[in-house]
Amino acid sequence: MTITQEVSTKVKDIYLPEPATVLDSRLLTEAEIYLRFKFDDPKPHDYKPGQFYSVTIPGIGEAPISISSSLTRCEENTFEMVVRKVGNVTNALHNLVYGDKVGIRGPFGTTFPVDTAMKGRDLVFICGGIGLVPVRSAIHHVLDNRQDYGDISILVGTRTPADRLFVSECEEWSKRDDVNFLETVDVAIARKPIWTGPVGVITTLLPRLNLDPAKTTTIVCGPPIMYRFVLMELRKLQLPNDQIYLSLERRMKCGVGKCGHCQINGKYACQEGAVFKYSDIESTPEAI
Ligand SMILES: Cc1cc2nc3c(=O)[nH]c(=O)nc-3n(C[C@H](O)[C@H](O)[C@H](O)COP(=O)(O)OP(=O)(O)OC[C@H]3O[C@@H](n4cnc5c(N)ncnc54)[C@H](O)[C@@H]3O)c2cc1C
Ligand code: FES
Repeated sequence: MTITQEVSTKVKDIYLPEPATVLDSRLLTEAEIYLRFKFDDPKPHDYKPGQFYSVTIPGIGEAPISISSSLTRCEENTFEMVVRKVGNVTNALHNLVYGDKVGIRGPFGTTFPVDTAMKGRDLVFICGGIGLVPVRSAIHHVLDNRQDYGDISILVGTRTPADRLFVSECEEWSKRDDVNFLETVDVAIARKPIWTGPVGVITTLLPRLNLDPAKTTTIVCGPPIMYRFVLMELRKLQLPNDQIYLSLERRMKCGVGKCGHCQINGKYACQEGAVFKYSDIESTPEAI
């Protein structure tokens, strides 16, 4: 093989989607669908909590979507996603049913440090809205290796009771003795599903935590507006910035550091993120 052939093969590989088949699809809310896929190629496929795949619908386009599952409890070569309907690709993903094919590139991006910085630490997961989707992968990993971590708190905030994701899993977490699970909704609209829990934005849950800042690592993912207020509360709790991990979404195209679409002041969110340590980006304008 010549050098040119070798280079062109490598370049082709990173842009070439791999076929995967839909095993399961079901609506979680009016706007969000849960999808489970299996790669057609039986070779082992590895991914880590916090990473994302680029999902292609032939003839429509491609979109970055977080991996919501963990290898600790997924059948071989399968992975799960949750997709919110906002435009062309996500609408097409909502039409998928059992047996349909998509193209997958990746996994891309950095990871929640479940095997390194989070090990042995008390953990606080702060998930706003669809932010629960990527964080769920880390939560599954941590709960499946429970002995490797200290105290675990999971905080979930949603706009209304009808927007809640993974309701039965949240119920399971709330029943565990080894998890401190707190959930709130911004507004409890007086219609089904009935909500009898706390009402208020996710930051109202933080004063209810009894943390040792020296032992605690925090994972935060949610809508852009949430980060500023959550970070203010974490500061009050004296959590050091190098123990806060944030997953930040940016518009992405290639996912491999070539097109520049995802740049945050010179940082490529597709490669240096989407999971960032807060101390690495706190002085980067436009990051938060
Ligand atoms: C790392 C990463 C992980 C993501 N994970 C998920 C996930 O798990 N589930 C999920 O539902 N979505 C996720 N997204 C967002 C998803 O990629 C976009 O919603 C999708 O690309 C929109 O494509 P579309 O063709 O459906 O919409 P388009 O037709 O392209 O656009 C529809 C509307 O959405 C806006 N829009 C498009 N892309 C983005 C974007 N990236 N950020 C903000 N607004 C945008 C457009 O301006 C337009 O208003 C993730 C994005 C990133 C970068
Ligand atoms: S998405 Fe192309 S450089 Fe990051």
